[in-house]
Amino acid sequence: MRSAIVGALLGATLAIPAVAQDVGDAAAGEGEFRKCRACHMIQDASGTDIVKGGATGPNLWNIVGSPIAHTEGFNYGDGLLAAKAANPDMVWTEEELVAYVTDPTAWVKEKSGDDSVRSKMTFKLNRNQADLAAYLTTVSPDAPAE
Ligand code: HEC
Repeated sequence: MRSAIVGALLGATLAIPAVAQDVGDAAAGEGEFRKCRACHMIQDASGTDIVKGGATGPNLWNIVGSPIAHTEGFNYGDGLLAAKAANPDMVWTEEELVAYVTDPTAWVKEKSGDDSVRSKMTFKLNRNQADLAAYLTTVSPDAPAE
């Protein structure tokens, strides 16, 4: 009995690092979000702040599963709007978020197919992108199950 429990625990412990590597560690990503807070808040539909933050960038609540540039009233840049126009059905996934935060201007150039566009987001995250994306899924109630 005891060894069965220990075995089960061991199995679970061994399984976790593999999963964390693939999909990112949301708890670590929550800490990483402090780099985004200067420009982005996470505020739910009822107006409750999950993370208080700036308004230079759009609110990132429910971002995973949402279309590109969907926040009404936010003055998006031409680059992101061109990326959306070229991919009208695209929604944010963890994978796209990882690519976007690594280099937003490179991402809008690639997705729009227009090399002259730039992103209005001047920040680049060069580490722990998958953790951050996993965290954003936890504040995205409408995110599709993977
Ligand atoms: C210096 C300010 C700044 C920082 C820091 C910043 N952003 Fe942004 N972010 C922006 C702006 C401005 C936009 C709008 C971009 C545009 O319109 O081209 C944006 C757009 C976005 C979008 C697109 C949202 C949509 O509605 O499609 C995502 C996703 C995003 N940021 C995630 C992040 C994450 C995650 C971080 C932290 C790693 C971060 N940003 C850090 C300013 C910032």
